[in-house]
Amino acid sequence: MAKKTVADIDPKGKRVLMRVDFNVPIADGKVGDDKRIVAAIPTIKNIIERGGKLILMSHLGRPKGSPSPEFSLKPAADRLGELLEKPVKFVDDAMGDKVKTAVNSLNDGDVLVLENMRFYKQEEANDETFSKQLAALGDIYVNDAFGTAHRCHASTHGVARFITGPKVVGFLIEKELKYLDDALNNPTRPFVAILGGAKVSDKIEVIKNLLSKVDKLLIGGAMAYTFMKAQGKPTGNSLVEADKVDLAKDLIKIGGDKLVLPLDTICGKEFKEDTPTMTAEGNIPDGWEGFDIGPKTVELFKNLVVNAKTIVWNGPLGVFEMKPFANGTFSLAQTIADATAKGAVSVIGGGDSASAIKKAGLNKAMTHISTGGGASLEFMEGKGFETLDILDNK
Ligand code: 3PG
Repeated sequence: MAKKTVADIDPKGKRVLMRVDFNVPIADGKVGDDKRIVAAIPTIKNIIERGGKLILMSHLGRPKGSPSPEFSLKPAADRLGELLEKPVKFVDDAMGDKVKTAVNSLNDGDVLVLENMRFYKQEEANDETFSKQLAALGDIYVNDAFGTAHRCHASTHGVARFITGPKVVGFLIEKELKYLDDALNNPTRPFVAILGGAKVSDKIEVIKNLLSKVDKLLIGGAMAYTFMKAQGKPTGNSLVEADKVDLAKDLIKIGGDKLVLPLDTICGKEFKEDTPTMTAEGNIPDGWEGFDIGPKTVELFKNLVVNAKTIVWNGPLGVFEMKPFANGTFSLAQTIADATAKGAVSVIGGGDSASAIKKAGLNKAMTHISTGGGASLEFMEGKGFETLDILDNK
């Protein structure tokens, strides 16, 4: 069901309480990658340019329910001010009298950032009283925190139960849902998905859901070694989830020729950059550990991806942070870029795949890079989000 968006509200003179995902890397008191803040700007500008009094809520990191300075949102508020080229107010609490005073002093078009919601344990507990207190700060609730859409917390869910006015999504969530939903449920074919990452256990539901939709599902990353084990191949010292081998056997059966596994592996002696390396064709010998897909697999994946019309990627194919094991991930990123230039739609799950694409300098070459790691993965599992179900329908 389509959700109402900020375009459906009149924010003039209203207190607009908006959940954003400003969970960004901070180093030396400054924001590192500001992608998530930039992604929230269209909604923020829309509200303040139409005279809304904007109150922003977010979390940052996992401070476990009590205040700690390294998780303060102040640097994110400062960065937002730079991006908007106007003063952004900040209050060093998420609740209580200080917050009420700051909210009451807002003029039309002002922006106020509250301190990290997770400084209160009630946030992650989706506590009812805390949710009611948050709801009392706003006349309208907007959720534009796609990266946190899979977390049912007070500021992402509970607050929407108690806000008295409209509750709508922002433009970022609208855009994320559009790209992910179109790719998964209305793809132009051939539709190829690539999954990497360490564990089969993290991606079981995604694999099952994607197998019912794609033409090909390519598997890389350490997850591939559990599949190799399931095929009865030796995996040396590679990471294998022993308790998931039977499940991998089932997935191989269900997948049939849609499921494409690596043909060869770049191995190292140890998990470090300057370790001796070798390419294993098929079996991985004792004393060696798989860290990347090999050249034959790169070719195989390239040929499947370059002719695809819809491409979804989540999870690196190897340890791309280490030079000897980066080729699989970066070659794939380049191939997706080439396919996109030829007219394919490419949708990249956030998290590590997004970092790899940034490192490869290919950000602009993709159709859509999600701002949500865990959230995009849960979306690919075919689950809805309770945080969105609770918002107003069109
Ligand atoms: C993310 O970075 O994936 C989101 O901000 C959610 O953060 P969390 O995994 O700490 O809930």
